[in-house]
Amino acid sequence: MTTGPMTTGPMTTAPDDHGVTRREETVPMPLRFPEGFLFGAASAAYQIEGAVDEDGRGPSIWDTFSHTPGKVHHGDTGDIACDHYHRLPADLDVIAGLGLGSYRFSLAWPRILPAGAGAVNQKGLDFYKRVVDGLHERGVTPMATVYHWDLPQPLQDAGGWTNRDTAARLADYTQVVVDALGDSVPLWVTVNEPFCSGMVGHLQGRHAPGCTNLAAALAASHHVLLGHGYAAEIIHRGAPGAQAGITLNLSDIAPATEASDDRAATARLDGYENRWFLDPVLAGGYPADMLDWYGARTPIDFILDGDLRVISGAIDFLGVNYYETKTVAADPAEPVHQAREIPASGAVTAGGLDVRPAGLGRILRRVHGYSPALPIYITESGAAFHDYVDPEGNVNDPERAAYLRDHFTETSAAIAAGVDVRGYYVWSLLDNFEWADGYSRRFGLVYVDYRTQARIPKTSARWYRQLIRDCRDLAPAPPASGAG
Ligand code: GCO
Repeated sequence: MTTGPMTTGPMTTAPDDHGVTRREETVPMPLRFPEGFLFGAASAAYQIEGAVDEDGRGPSIWDTFSHTPGKVHHGDTGDIACDHYHRLPADLDVIAGLGLGSYRFSLAWPRILPAGAGAVNQKGLDFYKRVVDGLHERGVTPMATVYHWDLPQPLQDAGGWTNRDTAARLADYTQVVVDALGDSVPLWVTVNEPFCSGMVGHLQGRHAPGCTNLAAALAASHHVLLGHGYAAEIIHRGAPGAQAGITLNLSDIAPATEASDDRAATARLDGYENRWFLDPVLAGGYPADMLDWYGARTPIDFILDGDLRVISGAIDFLGVNYYETKTVAADPAEPVHQAREIPASGAVTAGGLDVRPAGLGRILRRVHGYSPALPIYITESGAAFHDYVDPEGNVNDPERAAYLRDHFTETSAAIAAGVDVRGYYVWSLLDNFEWADGYSRRFGLVYVDYRTQARIPKTSARWYRQLIRDCRDLAPAPPASGAG
């Protein structure tokens, strides 16, 4: 174990909300992380790259959605974003300057297969080769996400994720990227947050493609999971030295009161957001209570024989994205789950999410309970705050540094309790295009002035660099070569 000094402090104590006591327990200091723990930061292609019609890239559902009036805050789009496509070498230097051990990025399907299937765009593949090579040159371990929401528009025109065929197209695309990058990427995430692609995109309608239909959402979610299963098999076959996992976003969910209707509503929201994805991947089946609940509302006819075997096929790790705890009450008027979230209170982020580090610890222990032998990477955790450049030219974000300190502290405590967490990727490397919130939410360790594209490391970036250094300095020296 390596120990980082002085990076921790007392845990945030969240106030009770709505009569529920959710005391944030304190955990032992100081921070301890196993040898080889990966301190990382994460990004996603559409959120940072820009250059949406250059070098042969085709359109994705997020190009279409962001250009549809009313869908994204202020009509923002990813057309330019952080202009990362043109600034790759400088951004790789930013990554190295932070001292990151690993960097998680996503591959843009529409850059590599502009029509979604068929002809490969070599220039698109070349860009990601430069990303991977540039990381290796700087001693940074690449973690690549194959699919982070930017489905090629031609596939959407054929039904998108509601069409089972899209899972097979994801498999073909995965084969192309594995053939090109293979073992030079040691860590592969097949798909990012199937809940968002499936449910936020097809039931809530807040994300592309913007449908609001339960049947579509359930079918889409299933097909994304099926695509994950195919992709994991392809990675295992094509890059036997690499590890493959899926990233789920998991929320820590508790009832507003102990009343039985609130508890039942909580079980349904937990079924919707967490178990509908955890159970098929880790336990080989959909949760029976949710199959009954949804089955009473729409035919469940999209699960074919053998699908769950593919979906629950071996993964080498689970990626966990953690942003939220939720307090839930029964709401008979809510059409799908008859449940409603109680708005957050106490410390909140700029996005209105509550700040509850203990929720991360609970999620990690919960996943460990499902599959005690399965390694976990926290593939995203972070927060938006109201960051600005002050008159001296600094971006001072003590809230984010405290947020990260408390979440790293929870992680360290979970590891000490036996949960096999192998790394933590802060969301995000750079401020970026925050989907439906456009540029209004800044999650970066590094501030981006979108007008000049200047990168300004925030106070939290310096805090993080110091944490990483402290942990490295205290790492035991490697055994002398030739010993024994
Ligand atoms: C995610 C997304 C990110 C978001 C982040 C903050 O995987 O959820 O990767 O793209 O920016 O979740 O909302």
